[in-house]
Amino acid sequence: MEKIIVLGGKGGVGKSSISAATALILSDLFPDKKLLLISFDIAHNLSDLFLQEIGDKLTPLTDNLWAIEPDPNIYAEEYTKEFTAKTRALMKKMPIIGLIPQIKNFVDTTFTADSIPLALKNAMFFQKILDAEDLNSQGVQFDIIVADFPPTGNMIALFEIPEDTVKVVLKYSLNFYNSIKGTLKGFSKMFRKVTRPFDSDTKQEELGDEILKMLTELEERGERISNLIHDIGSLRLVSIAEKPSFEEIKRARDLTKKYVNLDGVHINMVTPEESAKSCDFCRKIRLNQLKYVKKIKDEFVNLKVWESNKLEDEPMGLEGLRKLAKEVYGDLNAEDILNPKNIKKSFNAIDVK
Ligand SMILES: Nc1ncnc2c1ncn2[C@@H]1O[C@H](COP(=O)(O)OP(=O)(O)OP(=O)(O)O)[C@@H](O)[C@H]1O
Ligand SMILES: [Mg+2]
Repeated sequence: MEKIIVLGGKGGVGKSSISAATALILSDLFPDKKLLLISFDIAHNLSDLFLQEIGDKLTPLTDNLWAIEPDPNIYAEEYTKEFTAKTRALMKKMPIIGLIPQIKNFVDTTFTADSIPLALKNAMFFQKILDAEDLNSQGVQFDIIVADFPPTGNMIALFEIPEDTVKVVLKYSLNFYNSIKGTLKGFSKMFRKVTRPFDSDTKQEELGDEILKMLTELEERGERISNLIHDIGSLRLVSIAEKPSFEEIKRARDLTKKYVNLDGVHINMVTPEESAKSCDFCRKIRLNQLKYVKKIKDEFVNLKVWESNKLEDEPMGLEGLRKLAKEVYGDLNAEDILNPKNIKKSFNAIDVK
């Protein structure tokens, strides 16, 4: 994998449309590279954007572009199943404890997909994709991933999660041991000797080693993912030329700084000059927008800023999205879209009177 492009910003500013247009145009410009577009919004809309059913399976859109609208529940279920299976396997090694029905019940009901928060579920899936465990088995190795992220708060959760996953599993493991301890106390009152095997050094060591291994694997994976995002992640923030979404991208910049490199800013849906000429109301809107275009450019002065006007038709389908890509990236310099140069440049927007 060589690049993970992440699009973020406030709701409704065009993140999904620009993600889709970016993935599509990069797949056109780099026919030898394989691209994946992922939506991390639970209200997926890639199917609407591409005018074709996408869903939870890798869906080819062009010769070298695939998309997926993952169902985070499915991955969380797989994950918790694995965890409970491992825990049960551990219990088998301790025959007497394994006989205590309350413990089996506890393991089966405590760490379930429903008990995991959505952000963590999404993160599990994101980690899985980035770790390429899952998709490689479907035979595709991706060079570039474009991720359409939910608005800022949830986006941060996705970056933070590698660490959190370990904490959550640790919490459940500890709960599990507390439950064993409690149950064992009850038992030991009745049959003092019965609890011996749990206290015996070898069993306890084995158990400890297995759990430690699980947690270490998780932590290593978390570290791998964090490093990957750090090394090849490229965040692009999308805003419209209005105050609330401008404020949002400033916050997003500050909150994401430690996880991912900010490579550029999109200012989307600016009212075109043509419309401003023919309608007084549109002219006023445009003038106000241009003030924010300047503010955004001043604020992000060292970054690549892509400006795009509001198109007459909602960009949809391959044709509509290619049109949006042309509007966003202009001359379509492939390298510049993939690795924008963060050069200090002078402000050149139209003067606002
Ligand atoms: N440059 C553009 N010109 C015209 N319409 C646009 C443009 N960019 C986006 N849109 C339209 O604006 C609406 C919102 O876009 P989109 O769904 O991509 O935003 P979003 O930031 O992903 O929203 P959400 O936060 O709800 O996921 C859509 O109807 C889309 O077709
Ligand atoms: Mg969206």
